[in-house]
Amino acid sequence: MTFDLFGSDSGALTSHDKKRVLALHAQLHAHAYRYHVLDDPQIPDAEYDRLFSELQALESAHPELQSPDSPTQRVGGKPLAQFASVRHRVPMLSIRTETDTEATGAQHFDTRVRKELGLTASEPPVDYVAELKFDGLAISLRYEAGVLVQAATRGDGETGEDVTQNIRTIRQIPLRLPANAPAVLEVRGEVYMRRADFEALNERQRGKIAQGVKGEKTFVNPRNAAAGAVRQLDPAIAAQRPLSFFAYGLGEVTPPDEGGPEFTTHFAMLQTLASWGFPVAGQVEQAQGATELIAYHRRMGASRDQLPFDIDGVVYKVNALSLQRQLGFVTREPRWAVAHKYPAQEQLTTVLGVDVQVGRTGKLTPVAKLAPVFVGGVTVTNATLHNEDEARRKDVRVGDTVVVRRAGDVIPEVVSVLLEKRVHDAPQFTMPHQCPVCGSVAVREEGEADYRCTGGLFCGAQRKEAILHFAHRRAVEVDGLGDKLVEQLVDSNIVRALPDLYKLGLVALSGLDRMADKSANNLLEALEKSKQTTLSRFVFGLGIRHVGEATAKELARHFGKLDAIMDAPVDALLEVSDVGPIVAKSLRTFFDQPHNREVVEQLRACGVTWQETEPAPRAFMPLSGKTFVITGTLPNLSRDEAKERVEAAGGKVAGSVSKKTDYVVAGADAGSKLVKAQALGVAVIDETALLVLLAEHAN
Ligand code: IVH
Repeated sequence: MTFDLFGSDSGALTSHDKKRVLALHAQLHAHAYRYHVLDDPQIPDAEYDRLFSELQALESAHPELQSPDSPTQRVGGKPLAQFASVRHRVPMLSIRTETDTEATGAQHFDTRVRKELGLTASEPPVDYVAELKFDGLAISLRYEAGVLVQAATRGDGETGEDVTQNIRTIRQIPLRLPANAPAVLEVRGEVYMRRADFEALNERQRGKIAQGVKGEKTFVNPRNAAAGAVRQLDPAIAAQRPLSFFAYGLGEVTPPDEGGPEFTTHFAMLQTLASWGFPVAGQVEQAQGATELIAYHRRMGASRDQLPFDIDGVVYKVNALSLQRQLGFVTREPRWAVAHKYPAQEQLTTVLGVDVQVGRTGKLTPVAKLAPVFVGGVTVTNATLHNEDEARRKDVRVGDTVVVRRAGDVIPEVVSVLLEKRVHDAPQFTMPHQCPVCGSVAVREEGEADYRCTGGLFCGAQRKEAILHFAHRRAVEVDGLGDKLVEQLVDSNIVRALPDLYKLGLVALSGLDRMADKSANNLLEALEKSKQTTLSRFVFGLGIRHVGEATAKELARHFGKLDAIMDAPVDALLEVSDVGPIVAKSLRTFFDQPHNREVVEQLRACGVTWQETEPAPRAFMPLSGKTFVITGTLPNLSRDEAKERVEAAGGKVAGSVSKKTDYVVAGADAGSKLVKAQALGVAVIDETALLVLLAEHAN
């Protein structure tokens, strides 16, 4: 009996409603399966939402139509005070872990299995199944009459916790099975979080923390985030945590003599689970003997970082269920399975300091100096903090305990700080505004993430790059001065700065690797030849940020002389076509560094010369010195167009009228500016008069 508190406007329950609810269940289940398990949706999200709302409306009008397998039950019910206990009818075993991360780990397992089975060396290899070892939380799902009735954690293997409400929110887990599924079925597998889902979750969490929401935190890794979500007492919160699931085994199942399935191999069992709608990892493979297990371990290890989720190893299982029964268990671990680990990719360590390193292009990178830790197969002592914003976001301080990650060949990074372990309040990291290598000013340009040293030619960290750039074919061109040679010259300290190139002699060169007299002579000749250059090649060769070949040519054409470029204030630089505020600022910063000027002087002193010319004649600017204010709607030109034309003719356009204004260009509906112009006696003209002014001066 159900009570209808709101009167009877929900209407009487018809058999049509019942049928529609069942039809909606079937459709929504099928679409959710395609979307979440197969990753191959058939209908747009909006259509799914429409069907979902229809079902919700029917269920709220007729609560007696609501059932535990309804897709609406995924959103999470009421918060719990605590989890109920669940006694596992078939214990949830754990597996023996092979800690030898080398190939021998697989070998040992195979040897033990063969011995237990009494197989001699001449008998064929054992048939195994190799799977990924997902880094999440083991769960047992119980289905009765095809409906998910209970989900439990492993607990101590005998008794776990009832987390049904939370598990229902995982869309990859079927709430209802097809008709051919057995009457009782317990499926075991791993609840985990994909890395991208984990990153997005943490991003949301950081947003909440930034807004001052109490009790929110970020998660250390996907496994902790998944475990926390599953053991969350409020299912509404669990529903917001993006969890996924892979099936890998069975618990209690209706026996064959009572109509249950009869499996002969583990592999066939997994295939059947997939056919019933459970996600089974695509990387499950059959493998013959130790050799193929080793190959699997190696292959999965190599592609580990490309997987969308974390694994901490692989699992080998004897495929034939009859052999599994024959092998049996030792204490709580089956003899027929083993987990073969990979080196951990994350470890805890402490921060000894935060340094700033300067790259070949002058980029400053904050780097955490760490107490040595073995992670991802190597000993790590440095981890990048990427840039100022990242360093601040992670807020890494000296003395902190941090999670360090090294995945594949990627440079190690600090994932997060364990704030609860921060012992004393070390100061926050701040990015230095000076290059730690050469002392030049370091700048972070607008819209960029990185600070850069402006020392260019002078900075030891950038020396090789600077020399290679200078010697480039399109710059000052020193034929034959390539990578290897520059490397040697700089590493042996023969060339400390650009001018040292022109001080090289046969004696110094002949001491270098693979440098015969002939090549030494060729290089000296090329250096001699490079001294005769052009201003634009020289300016380009200085390697000033944002100053490419075309800009260098424009600068040379416009100013004609190097000193004029070096001394030009920003305003004057802006007059050069091709030079905007960023380039102008970069030029100024470069030539304001005394070291850079010194390098230029020394190069000149070494005999590097070019032809200087007179500055390009200034284009005739008919309206230069005149200030305009444009107001109202002009008949033909937009206000921006009018402004552009005035500026192109050298005039200035101001926003407000003053005594200094020369002309007010007034269109229709001109208001206070026109009044003010009249009051101040400023000339008021219309669009036609403006066009005449522009035309008069154009010839
Ligand atoms: S089989 C009787 N297969 O690793 C065998 N476990 O102790 C039961 N795990 O508790 C486990 N991926 O949480 C199995 N492909 C996989 C697995 C896997 C991850 C977890 C599971 C288990 C632990 C091993």
